[in-house]
This record gives sequence, structure tokens and C-alpha cells, in this order.
Amino acid sequence: MKRKLRLGVNIDHVATIRNARGGKDPDPVRAACLAARAGADGITAHLREDRRHITDDDITRLSDEIDLPLNLEMAATEEMLAIALRHSPHAACLVPEKREERTTEGGLDVVGSFAKLEPFAAKLGAAGIRVSLFVEPDPDQLEAAVRLGAPVVELHTGSYANLRGRLRNAELDRLRAAAARCDELGLECHAGHGLTFDNVGPVAAIPQVVELNIGHFLVGEAIFGGLDSTIKRMRALMDKARAEVQGEQSA
Ligand code: PXP
Repeated sequence: MKRKLRLGVNIDHVATIRNARGGKDPDPVRAACLAARAGADGITAHLREDRRHITDDDITRLSDEIDLPLNLEMAATEEMLAIALRHSPHAACLVPEKREERTTEGGLDVVGSFAKLEPFAAKLGAAGIRVSLFVEPDPDQLEAAVRLGAPVVELHTGSYANLRGRLRNAELDRLRAAAARCDELGLECHAGHGLTFDNVGPVAAIPQVVELNIGHFLVGEAIFGGLDSTIKRMRALMDKARAEVQGEQSA
């Protein structure tokens, strides 16, 4: 089956640069508008508890001013739940969050935190927000996601991105197996974290993956090539990898 691969552009680090000086520039909402024109299918933003990059005002403006679906990444806390219910984004991706981490380290432990996560998934789902769970490519986590009633999981590609050689290939195999298991379980499969021009191809080629969420590399690379052409190149690499694998499957 041919499935289009969507690109969700994560604009958190435009806000990181803005916040380094405390002013208004660069504006992450402007980046989101530009991403939309460059071919993004969605905008992703992580409102962290410490507001180190995206702020509450950014979420208000993204909700009001951007036509693309907004994927709000959030920790499972009462404060974030109230914000999500107020803005009603297209999707809410529940992520683990630690204050001291530099970025989201590891996936959500859906198995171990089931009782804690259940009411959050239920309230978001009841409000018509598509619930996604950011998890390691681990079949136990996928099965727990189904029991939780989440329609979507996002597979954490951070280990794949950081590893090299045989270890990376083994992690890629884990991602492939997890994506195939998502299909069997009826879960929509997304993936993201640490993806770059150099490593996106094999993940984009996994046929069950329907969305990639990419941020840090795009914003960093935009310094050299501009955001528009960086997003277009990422889109092209994703589409090429997907077209190649679909060609092989139909040959
Ligand atoms: N998906 C999730 C759930 C994330 O937490 C992040 C990082 O904020 C990303 C994707 C994007 O990762 P990166 O910025 O490394 O591309």
C-alpha cells in the first residue's frame, strides 16, 4: 500500500535562538508560515514546563495564525493538559520531560506509567485531539499504547541517529519491526528525533511510517542554506527514499 510521508517541522529551536536575547526575533510563527510554504505538512512545537524555547504566547499565535495542523508536544501534567484543551491542537504528542535534560531523552514508559497516562490520553481524546505517544521502538510499549487508546505513536529515532555501523543497523531493524507491529495493531506510526539529511533516508523508507517530525537539524542547517531550501531538500530526500522503496515493492 502506498502511503504519503508527511513532514512535521519542529520550530522549537527558532524560539531557542530568540530567547537567547529575550526579544522577538527570530519569530517561530514566521518560521512556521515559511515552513508551510516550503512544503511542511504540519508544525510541531514542544511547550516545556520551563518554557526554555516555545512560550504560551507562541502556542496561542500558532493556533490562531497557522493553517497547518499543529502537533503540540507536551508532558503529561495538569498544566499542559489545560493548555492543550484550551487551544485544541490537531494532535498532542505526550513526551517524557526532565528539567535537567537538553532534549527529550528516551521514549515515554507507557507500560510503567500506564495508570498515570490513562486519564490524560482519555481527556485529550475526548476533546477530539489526536493523541500520540513518543515511545522507543519496543513492542511492549506499542501494545500498551493500544490499551491506552492512543491512535498514534511516534517512534524515537534518537538512538538510531546517534549510533554508527552495525549498532545503527540493529536500531534501524528495531524501528522497522516496530513500524510493522504498529500496522498489525492499527496504530498510526510516526517517527522523529535527531534526523538529518544524512540519516533520514532509511527511516523515510520504512513503509508504515506516515510522518516524520524534524526540528533541530532543519533550524541549524537553515543558517547555511536558508529555511526554505533546507525544508525543500529534506522533503525531497524523504520523498526519494519513499519512492525508491515503493518502486521496489511494486516491481
Ligand atoms: N519528536 C519529538 C517527540 C521530539 O521531542 C522532538 C524534539 O523536540 C522531535 C521529534 C524533533 O527532534 P529533532 O529536533 O532532533 O529533530
